[in-house]
Amino acid sequence: MNLYELVKPLLFTLSPERAHSMAIFALKYGLMPSESSAYSSSLSQNLWGLDFPNPVGLAAGFDKNAEVYQAMLEQGFGFVETGTVTPVAQSGNDKPRIFRLTEDKAVINRLGFNNKGLNYYFSKLQNRNSENGIVGANLGANKLSKDPINDYVIGLKKLLGYADYFTINISSPNTPGLRALQGREALDELLTKLKLARREAVLQKEPPLILKIAPDLKSDECEDIAEIIMKHEMDGLIVSNTTLSRDSIKSSKKNEDGGLSGEPLFKLSTKIMSRMYSLTDGKIPLIGAGGVSSGADAYAKIRAGASLVQLYSALVYYGPGLVRKINSELELLLKEDGFSNITEAIGLDHK
Ligand SMILES: Cc1cc2nc3c(=O)[nH]c(=O)nc-3n(C[C@H](O)[C@H](O)[C@H](O)COP(=O)(O)O)c2cc1C
Repeated sequence: MNLYELVKPLLFTLSPERAHSMAIFALKYGLMPSESSAYSSSLSQNLWGLDFPNPVGLAAGFDKNAEVYQAMLEQGFGFVETGTVTPVAQSGNDKPRIFRLTEDKAVINRLGFNNKGLNYYFSKLQNRNSENGIVGANLGANKLSKDPINDYVIGLKKLLGYADYFTINISSPNTPGLRALQGREALDELLTKLKLARREAVLQKEPPLILKIAPDLKSDECEDIAEIIMKHEMDGLIVSNTTLSRDSIKSSKKNEDGGLSGEPLFKLSTKIMSRMYSLTDGKIPLIGAGGVSSGADAYAKIRAGASLVQLYSALVYYGPGLVRKINSELELLLKEDGFSNITEAIGLDHK
């Protein structure tokens, strides 16, 4: 039995938000043992000029204020995405606002971008040693913003040079109107402004800009997004954020408002990601998120077109030891199929 199996019953007596705060506290103050052994070279790849030691990343929302990314890298993640950060601090929706759907190995959240704001977040990234691992910044807009598009520009301008990549999160279901930025005209304007801001910063190395989309997009919406990200030569796409759908959920908490994540999201998010791979002719690197909790899940996303994967909800049910387990399983699966490196398996289902 691993350490997490011992503490899990205790953690589950607490509300999910309290349990999360305790995890952040333990990580902040070095109370979590770190994983230090190296990964097989079959799991490593260079993407966007960044060396990923393994393809399993921490999805946004766990380290909203960029306080524990180093400790999470030390849990074995190949990269960590911090945020979502908004320009101004905000408290989010009323509690309770996170729910465990234990029978479904799922989570519903309606946090609404609670975070300490851009200045605090910047102070946490400012003195980072970039040699210690890959850290992304996930940007969002304030709930009461009069100009949501400008919120992303503000976030990017402030943090350029301090994060290895940027995720433009226009897919949280918990900020009214945010998902409308996935629409054709709004997205076109948003990406035009962000690319301009990046160019104007005249950096030695331009960090990749990655768009994060919802799994609830209709077929024509996917086509529009594909067309616009190709036009703007976006660097990558994360598929997906949480879903508003509740198909085949058993738990009595299924009717709580918010975005659903975890195991039941796996099929839908992988399907949409696979479609985006086809629509972009496999030319834009994809990060597959949604219901990953095993090496087989990660491998399925990779074969469907993901270059990297991310997870969050599975940590709630299996603890941080899962990261190493997924990577070991993935290494084995690649070997069984005769691949010497993960890049050989990307998009294989489409060939
Ligand atoms: C409690 C919670 C908070 C989240 N907060 C954010 C967030 O701030 N920004 C974001 O882009 N995604 C957020 N997400 C979505 C995750 O990053 C991820 O896309 C989604 O949960 C699917 O992955 P999973 O099934 O492995 O959890 C959150 C998810 C959860 C469960």
